[in-house]
Amino acid sequence: MTVASLLAYICLALLLQFAAGLGVWLWMRPRPAAALVAAPQADRAAGEQGAWKGWRDFRVARRVFEDSGHTQCSFYLEPVDGVALPAFKPGQFLTFSLPLGEVAGTEAGNAGEVIRCYSLSGFPETRTYRITVKRVLAPPDRKDLPPGRASSHLHDHVHEGDILRLKAPAGHFCIDGETGIPAVLIGAGIGITPMMSMAAWCLAEQPGRPLHFYYGLRNGGEHAFRQQIELLAGAHPQLHMNVVYSRPGPDDLPQRDFQHTGHIDIALLKRSLPHGRCQFYVCGPAPMMASLVPALAEWGVPQADIHFEAFGPATVRLPGTPESLSSAVLEGPLDVRFTRTGRTLAWQGQDRSLLDFAERQGVVLESGCRSGSCGSCEVRLVSGKVRYDHRPDYDIAPGHCLLCVGIPDSALVLEA
Ligand SMILES: Cc1cc2nc3c(=O)[nH]c(=O)nc-3n(C[C@H](O)[C@H](O)[C@H](O)COP(=O)(O)OP(=O)(O)OC[C@H]3O[C@@H](n4cnc5c(N)ncnc54)[C@H](O)[C@@H]3O)c2cc1C
Ligand code: FES
Repeated sequence: MTVASLLAYICLALLLQFAAGLGVWLWMRPRPAAALVAAPQADRAAGEQGAWKGWRDFRVARRVFEDSGHTQCSFYLEPVDGVALPAFKPGQFLTFSLPLGEVAGTEAGNAGEVIRCYSLSGFPETRTYRITVKRVLAPPDRKDLPPGRASSHLHDHVHEGDILRLKAPAGHFCIDGETGIPAVLIGAGIGITPMMSMAAWCLAEQPGRPLHFYYGLRNGGEHAFRQQIELLAGAHPQLHMNVVYSRPGPDDLPQRDFQHTGHIDIALLKRSLPHGRCQFYVCGPAPMMASLVPALAEWGVPQADIHFEAFGPATVRLPGTPESLSSAVLEGPLDVRFTRTGRTLAWQGQDRSLLDFAERQGVVLESGCRSGSCGSCEVRLVSGKVRYDHRPDYDIAPGHCLLCVGIPDSALVLEA
């Protein structure tokens, strides 16, 4: 090879690296806010001023399918009032109120509103929030049931220009940005959403920190954010991508589309991660969470280095915690009095939560996520003590409790 052709190769390599870097920068930076009226300067101070309590109206500026099967749709949201947004921590979520009308037998007490949480899936910035919603179908063995209410509504009826009501970013499942310890991001299925935000933030703000990103899914048809992830991996050598297909399709090619076949499990992590301390962030379907999170602890990962979030009723229990809080030995039934409905019921310990317990006996209560995230089921605790399996994502007001993840630790009087 001549010196001239060697130089030409080096120039080409540098050009490609620059182009990849530019692509990532363009994706991460705020986009022009076409639908936003008089957008103010987006700086951190303005973002903090834009913090809000309760509900705020947002306009859908853009919607984009992230996978070729069109099962996952991103919504870019801009505040109608044009005031800059508060910065969020990568991994946090938004709570939505969707006016879907009453459906007999479901979510009574919410007056036709459906409350759901969706993780922020984009880079934290002050003009636009991005969420990515997976369409939820009826369970395969219960085709008689209706499909998911909120996700179907968002996919089928929410278009660019429409207004959505949402609460400010919340949640404690956030990447620890104070340390350079290598991070292992594990997202399976739609659990990829908080990982996208964490990865984008880490690569931009902590360029020296190694990131091991595992993305588990069935096949190429539901491979979301493919181009964005490839751009990130191309521009950041510290990002080590491991895509894991459980059921590759005939057109899916190993190494081009995915690196491993099967599921993300402890055996895969043991053989593919380098030695040394890592922080683990895990989000995915209940069966993966229920096996992987305890397996990490059994492998010797300190609990302080294991962070996880389940997109639904909590299913994960770490070793050493009881199989079920409600199965803890009771010395006798505990009286639970609901002051608004005037009913007193006997807690016998067979329900997963106070919310399940009350609903089973016909007490109508507000609820949303049913996983301790949205705060819809928060009520005043007049007297008594409520226990939680682990700290709920929602910050409970003093003197209150959450019914969807709490169980009685004594006789209770609830303002509900
Ligand atoms: C903190 C957090 C973050 C989240 N982030 C995301 C995210 O980034 N992206 C995302 O897509 N989701 C996310 N979720 C999940 C999301 O909030 C919703 O739970 C999800 O969209 C399903 O809601 P739905 O209203 O569409 O389904 P639902 O109406 O709640 O239905 C759920 C399932 O129940 C079935 N069903 C319907 N009726 C019955 C019945 N009578 N009995 C039994 N089953 C029935 C449905 O067929 C469906 O399969 C998150 C959840 C939490 C708590
Ligand atoms: S229903 Fe969301 S916190 Fe209880």
